Amino acid sequence: MNKGITICISSAKGGVGKTITTLNLAGLYEILDKKVLIIDFDLASGGICASLNRNPRKSIYNLVDDYNNNRYKEFNDYVTKYDDKIDILASPKDPRQASKINPKYVELILDKAVFNYDIVLIDTSHELNDFNIFTMDLVDKIVFVMTNDPLDLKNMRSLMSILKDVNYNNYKVILNESIYPFRKYFSLYDIKNIIGNNIDYVISKDFYIKNIDSIIMKGDIITLNPKAASTFSKDYTTFMQLITDIYKEEVK
Ligand SMILES: Nc1ncnc2c1ncn2[C@@H]1O[C@H](COP(=O)(O)OP(=O)(O)O)[C@@H](O)[C@H]1O
Ligand SMILES: [Mg+2]
Repeated sequence: MNKGITICISSAKGGVGKTITTLNLAGLYEILDKKVLIIDFDLASGGICASLNRNPRKSIYNLVDDYNNNRYKEFNDYVTKYDDKIDILASPKDPRQASKINPKYVELILDKAVFNYDIVLIDTSHELNDFNIFTMDLVDKIVFVMTNDPLDLKNMRSLMSILKDVNYNNYKVILNESIYPFRKYFSLYDIKNIIGNNIDYVISKDFYIKNIDSIIMKGDIITLNPKAASTFSKDYTTFMQLITDIYKEEVK
């Protein structure tokens, strides 16, 4: 099998739609017949398994702990199945285990994952800690999700300037208008100026889903709903564009 593409979903603030975006991208990759692994690197408060209504038997913590104690055999022992195409590497069950996972294991985990999957989607927390910095450094592509919340803009501005300082440009920025759809303080022009970076994709307020909690409770992925493509045609096309762009840039 060829090496898969690693994509990390990141942000400058919590609650901006990273986890939902990760799940939606996973659904679209499944439709494109790709084998997908979702890694929940939001170690202390991860929500991938809960959002997909799966109860993981093992987590990232077990993988690292077994590796340390010579019990590790194969990667597959640590993943939780969602369906035929999507697997999950879960965040630790006990949040206290999060701080026990050394960032040096990021490389090991990604190295194992890329040889088993076409696409590795990594959900993260927004903190700029060593764990997330290691991850951002190692992945093929970072997708930043942001909203038009003033605090988010301020934090994105700092983040974008840090990335420019270190000459990092392997990222895309999504403006997510489906969260806080009725708060629109800034125009796209203002937002680009404030953060000092382009906005590559906009997920519109049409993608605001009133009953999102019940979808999550059932463990469904929005983009895998047969009606999704027609209900959210504009935003569905935007997500597909993102996938196509990443594919073109990463598969040479
Ligand atoms: N398209 C959407 N429509 C309505 N609510 C949404 C939508 N996307 C996300 N949300 C809500 O916004 C909150 C934060 O989303 P989440 O993906 O968990 O953000 P993050 O992972 O960045 O913390 C969640 O409570 C979720 O239900
Ligand atoms: Mg999240």
